[in-house]
Amino acid sequence: MSDLVALLAIETSCDETAAAVIAETGNPAKPWIMKSNVVASQAAIHREWGGVVPELASRQHLRDICGVVDQALEAGGVGLDELGAVAVTQGPGLVGSLLVGVSFAKSLAWSCGIPLVPVHHLAGHIESLTLQHGELPLPAAVLVVSGGHTSLYLVREPGQYALIGRTRDDAAGEAYDKVAKLLGLGYPGGPIVDRLARDGNDRAFAFPLPRMTHADRNQPAPTAPVGLLPPSVERRVDFSFSGLKTAVMRVVRARATPELSPAEVADICASFQRVVVQALLDRTFEAAAWLGVRSLGIAGGVSANSRLRAEAEARGAKIGLPVFIPPLSLSTDNAAMIGAAGLRRLRAGAVAGWDLNAQAALPL
Ligand code: KG4
Ligand code: ZN
Repeated sequence: MSDLVALLAIETSCDETAAAVIAETGNPAKPWIMKSNVVASQAAIHREWGGVVPELASRQHLRDICGVVDQALEAGGVGLDELGAVAVTQGPGLVGSLLVGVSFAKSLAWSCGIPLVPVHHLAGHIESLTLQHGELPLPAAVLVVSGGHTSLYLVREPGQYALIGRTRDDAAGEAYDKVAKLLGLGYPGGPIVDRLARDGNDRAFAFPLPRMTHADRNQPAPTAPVGLLPPSVERRVDFSFSGLKTAVMRVVRARATPELSPAEVADICASFQRVVVQALLDRTFEAAAWLGVRSLGIAGGVSANSRLRAEAEARGAKIGLPVFIPPLSLSTDNAAMIGAAGLRRLRAGAVAGWDLNAQAALPL
């Protein structure tokens, strides 16, 4: 084995069975290269139920994992005997789904006699940025916006993530999925709402912009570590989307008969999307200014959103702040990002014992 490690990564935290081969380049500015990235999506199975059914998800992971890993190795041109480590998502996620990946990775690493590297799913989303763009100018603010999370991190050193803000209720992707369900659009809702919004009038409905404009009495402690943000703002860098979802629900319920026309549905999608994107970007760019960062990253499934991408880039260009977003294939869940975070962790000496367990809830 050369000094440069090629690693197999496995991700099964939700409803995608994914495997990838990622290798080190030896170039500190762009440390990793993606050799393969295979994703078997279960969306067609869960669509019927309007959301992910955990038991069906774990059973499907079991069916798919061998084939997905075989394909990733073959497409990556790497044999088992050439692997330097196996990385796996330990959490957070659905425990039955995570267990399939963790058990598989553990057995494979043990039988190959190579290290097993545990990876936090959100570290994977964050490192998708470095995998694609190389090391970001630090310090960086990184917004992870997915179906389960809406969290803003400050990255001061590579691999160190300080939580600055998070959602107090629904994640942005969850709000997308719930609004799509209310409108009867199918699952997963984010991409469908994004597509329909293009034909709608984004000012047709005046949905409220959710913001924390003052210290919330229900939030006794600031989310960010004390001292990172000016005291005047440290209690209000969080996000909230449940009020917006309720506002959409009121419009939909009020119009149960006659049914909403396709044009009205498009208007609701466009108006909802305008407000979500503004809420995400107002807060993120404010925090970026308060923190004095040198770059901004946006990752996670919702970073695939066309309006979020376009507006983030436009706002960044206006103030001269470089904005990094992964390509669509690395925005939604995948194993390549887990491989990137895994190589970072491996070099930091983080190797799991053979008693590694899946963790449904896991702090980053
Ligand atoms: O990161 P991800 O694949 O899985 C989680 O870790 O949760 O994110 C999935 C979320 C879903 O809520 C999905 O609706 C949303 O990302 N999503 C989008 C778009 N594509 C995926 N939301 C808005 N616009 C999109 N184009
Ligand atoms: Zn994710």
